[in-house]
Amino acid sequence: MQNFKGGVGKSTVTTHLAHYFGVQGYRVLVVDCDSQATTTTLFGFNPHFNIAREQTLYPYLSIDPTQTDLLYAVQKTPWPNVDLIPSNLELFDVEYELAASGADGGSVLASRFRKLKRGLQGSRARL
Ligand SMILES: Nc1ncnc2c1ncn2[C@@H]1O[C@H](COP(=O)(O)OP(=O)(O)OP(=O)(O)O)[C@@H](O)[C@H]1O
Ligand SMILES: [Mg+2]
Repeated sequence: MQNFKGGVGKSTVTTHLAHYFGVQGYRVLVVDCDSQATTTTLFGFNPHFNIAREQTLYPYLSIDPTQTDLLYAVQKTPWPNVDLIPSNLELFDVEYELAASGADGGSVLASRFRKLKRGLQGSRARL
């Protein structure tokens, strides 16, 4: 879900779509890329108390990654057929690290989006 305006329902629509597709029988993986973690909260997790940085995208997307695929981060949710890669405020460190590493003019942002795509494609067959 992408929209450049804030507060217009991105997280809400993401969550309801996931529930809808789950009820339809699809296997759904919701990936919370927002350190605000609204979607994670809507799935019943308290991002501050129930989620550690190591359970978010951070170890995979960090400038010094410690994970080479995304399977470590996939969690069951209370909803059948719907799994979640959760987020918490610490995921903001990725945004900071990637922006800081581009301070010399080169940007790693695009390559990080490609890495996320590769990680999701790689997980697909193994979940
Ligand atoms: N269809 C709707 N009708 C009325 N209120 C809605 C609707 N969809 C979402 N909301 C409410 O609008 C507010 C913002 O929704 P949400 O958090 O999903 O937006 P967002 O685009 O993800 O925001 P952010 O930019 O902060 O990530 C929430 O309080 C949500 O409950
Ligand atoms: Mg949101």
